[in-house]
Amino acid sequence: MNFSINWYDRLPSTNTFLKELVSLKGPLASGTVIVAREQTHGRGRRLRDWQAAANENLTFSLLFSENVPIGKLPSVTMAAAISVVDLLREEGVKASLKWPNDVLVEGRKICGILSEGIAGGLIIGIGLNINMERADHIDQPATSILIETGTRRSIETTLDKLLKHLSVRLGQWLQGGFPAIREDWEKNVPNIGKAVTVRDGDNRRSGILRGFGDNGELLLEENGSISPVWAGDVSV
Ligand code: BTN
Repeated sequence: MNFSINWYDRLPSTNTFLKELVSLKGPLASGTVIVAREQTHGRGRRLRDWQAAANENLTFSLLFSENVPIGKLPSVTMAAAISVVDLLREEGVKASLKWPNDVLVEGRKICGILSEGIAGGLIIGIGLNINMERADHIDQPATSILIETGTRRSIETTLDKLLKHLSVRLGQWLQGGFPAIREDWEKNVPNIGKAVTVRDGDNRRSGILRGFGDNGELLLEENGSISPVWAGDVSV
């Protein structure tokens, strides 16, 4: 995958900006990247805010507008999440995956991904904490590469490295869909075979996490039978 990288000093939200750009200009090349040194209104999943201090963290959005059936798109985000785990391993940070697309270090969030469908594709918004020194202003346990390793990283170089991993994983996904990355994904999920609860709004289901289906859906065993879960947040 080829990327064209566009840096901005400050944007409200790279996802919103990219969405507006596509609606103004029409289709843009797959691989268009919008990256902001500062986001003033970063958005998270489930209408949460995404807080990232200026010049300390990576906040960017990637346009994925390949010709793939719409039903397959949700698991593209899972390919993005494993790319972040690959990058972190290279940086000396052992991270794990929490379905559908959180990246954690011992339960503390280091990266969040917000994917939004648009006509003809998907905007994949990635927030990766790099040089954040403390996490006490964040409303959930959080961490950064600096906190984990004691060393600052260049945001630009980290983006370049992450795009290389994204290119590999998105390439695998384009070739073989989620099954092409499933084994690696499952290796990085610590609670397979364990009891979990999946919450989707007021809906709550508990059972044993058995793995992930061909489209990235979570497979939950309840009372001896396994069924798919398509959306929600997992907790142990
Ligand atoms: C989450 O875990 O809730 C998802 C967080 C996603 C944050 C990124 S930062 C870049 C992109 N632009 C946004 O406004 N959000 C995503």
